[in-house]
Amino acid sequence: MRKDAAVTRLQLAPSILTADFARLGEEVATVAGCVDWFHLDVMDGHYVPNITFGPSTVEAIKKSCDLPLHVHLMIEEPLRFAKAFADAGADRISFHPEVTADPGSVIAHLKELGVGAGIAIHPDVALEVAEPHLGDLDVLLMMTVRPGFGGQAFLHEVVPKIDQARRALTQAAAGADIEVDGGVNLTTVDEAVGAGAEILVAGSAVFDGKDPLAAATRMRERLDLLAREDDRD
Ligand code: DX5
Ligand code: ZN
Repeated sequence: MRKDAAVTRLQLAPSILTADFARLGEEVATVAGCVDWFHLDVMDGHYVPNITFGPSTVEAIKKSCDLPLHVHLMIEEPLRFAKAFADAGADRISFHPEVTADPGSVIAHLKELGVGAGIAIHPDVALEVAEPHLGDLDVLLMMTVRPGFGGQAFLHEVVPKIDQARRALTQAAAGADIEVDGGVNLTTVDEAVGAGAEILVAGSAVFDGKDPLAAATRMRERLDLLAREDDRD
């Protein structure tokens, strides 16, 4: 189900998780011209069985491009670390609500820090956990892989939950973007957009270790085509 108003531009947000960290600034600069955000996956080895990077990496990327940064916190203590990521240059910060008894206090803290607030929904977590907060969110991050690694297969069984999220936001007259994260590529992107995605995270589909600019350009062209098709509907 689409937003009432036609989406003029579907946004592309590469995840840097599979980029070449030895040349991170170059990798980011290479694709910056055809994308809208960079998606930065922060993992603490507790919420997920992997450890990635911290605020200093966010700061380094902020210096390498002018695009907005969405920090996806896959950590057990978002309240404790949010300020460090906001100070490092995050424009939006999302967290997984099941790690805290009071997601509303994390959202309020993010707003105090002056960054956009997002809730990330794990494939095994019901959307209902986000529903009391829809009106306060800037983005609802729908995970289509179990968080922890890039390069995983898209979970098609999550797509109805994206549609449910779209309906819930419309019902709540909430303006949050729907961002879909995990396994998005040229084969799965249509399904995600069809269910209501407006921002598409693409990690291994862009930083494929071969030609990230060509890969990002192909994703960009596909999203522009889908948006035009939506305009015609
Ligand atoms: C997984 C992360 C995703 C991941 C996306 O836990 O939240 O952002 O990096 O990478 P791909 O697109 O390769 O699934
Ligand atoms: Zn992510």
